[in-house]
Amino acid sequence: MFITLEGIEGAGKTTQLQNIIAYLGRRGYECVTTREPGGTAIGAQIRAILLDPGNHALDATAELLLYVADRVQHVRTVIQPHLAAGRVVLCDRFFDATLVYQGYARGVDQGLIRELHRLVCDDLRPDATLLFDLDPAVGLARAWRQVHSGGRTDAETRFEQEKLAFHQRVRAGYLDMARLEPRRYWVIDAGEDARTVARTVETILASLLPATVDP
Ligand code: TMP
Repeated sequence: MFITLEGIEGAGKTTQLQNIIAYLGRRGYECVTTREPGGTAIGAQIRAILLDPGNHALDATAELLLYVADRVQHVRTVIQPHLAAGRVVLCDRFFDATLVYQGYARGVDQGLIRELHRLVCDDLRPDATLLFDLDPAVGLARAWRQVHSGGRTDAETRFEQEKLAFHQRVRAGYLDMARLEPRRYWVIDAGEDARTVARTVETILASLLPATVDP
């Protein structure tokens, strides 16, 4: 089972990921957590380029290809082998983030993005996607608070530095994707307190995964 977490900056995905690991562990599932960009050692180097706020001159298509390079390495060496071994793979962002950030928000051709995914990532799709939906003004304020308190590195703020309108396009893009694929997407109100969000996520996971794992 391949589950992805998506949402704007500051939506609380990373906090919820910890709850999900604990919840699935209690239920006996062997799960693996990973993220994009940066889910491999080589991807970590690509991540540094992508999120460096000094790289404001990065061309939108070059940006797309760096995300795709990160993903090919990640899909082939991490995600597919774990899925083949029968594990639950939880991934903090995946292909939908590219459609939304590079496609909806930057305006790169979505046909190109989909075609690249088909050509080099075997068109791999998650079984379920949890979308942590939040007003971008609230999310950005949260994200900057994390940076200022040291909870998040300021070496990775290239997207936080984008204007509010960019993040509004990202949110709208995600909601559009959720409308297009209602069977895969679960839209969660990330404006609720973390415990309420965690309970909602557990209810969703309970409906996705059988209650017990076969020995
Ligand atoms: P995060 O790992 O802290 O969520 O940051 C990753 C950033 O990269 C986030 O701002 C979203 C952005 N991103 C894209 O623009 N395209 C992508 O394909 C992915 C995976 C992330």
